[in-house]
Order: sequence, then C-alpha cells, then structure tokens
Amino acid sequence: MVEEGELLKCKKCGSVLEKLVQGPETVSLDDLEELKPKHDGEGSQKHVPILERNGDNVIIKVGEITHPMEAEHRICFIELIDGNVTYRKTLKPGEEPKAVFKVDTDISKLKAREYCNVHGLWEA
Ligand SMILES: [Fe+2]
Repeated sequence: MVEEGELLKCKKCGSVLEKLVQGPETVSLDDLEELKPKHDGEGSQKHVPILERNGDNVIIKVGEITHPMEAEHRICFIELIDGNVTYRKTLKPGEEPKAVFKVDTDISKLKAREYCNVHGLWEA
C-alpha cells in the first residue's frame, strides 16, 4: 500500500503524483506504480542527494558527480524532509541541481530525496 507522503508515477505518461491523504480504501493503481526511493547501486554517484550544513542553511546537492539538466534528462525536484515538514524545490532544464533551505534541525535527523525523470527517485 502507498502511504501518505509517498510518490507514484504513471506508467503511461510519466507524471509523478504525491499521496497527501489516506482515504478509507486502497487506491486502484491500474496505471500507477509506487516510486520506491533508491539509496545506492548503479547510478548512485550521480543521484544520491548530499546534505551539507552552512550556518542556518542546509544545502542539498545531487550526487558526487554533477547530474545533467537537459529537458530529456534532468532532476525535476529536490526535497528536504524534516519530520512532518517537507521542503521542495522544483527545477527547470539548465538550472543547477541544488537546493538551499533554511532549517536548523540537526542534519542527521533530516532526509533528502530527488527525482530524475530517467533514473527515478533517490534518497539519503
Ligand atoms: Fe539521471
């Protein structure tokens, strides 16, 4: 079952949806598939988010090797998850695959995830 806050992808068109509220029934997933975040393995050097603290800010970079930002292959969004608060930056082709959020929570308690339109969802 897809839980609140998890992401789904349409197998036909590639649209990505977020489940914000759990209803009393299980959603039909005929054309949808759950996006399970990847943490390692092939492609991880270009995709796993890296969190760094800089004063009051948390900087999230995508991968040790800079990811392409072309229309046909790019990072679509970067999220920072601080408990029940989610910060999201959407990105356009040509932009740097990086996000900065003002968050004072200990960096070890934060999660970050990003979505590549070719290689899927990655989390750290
Ligand atoms: Fe990618």
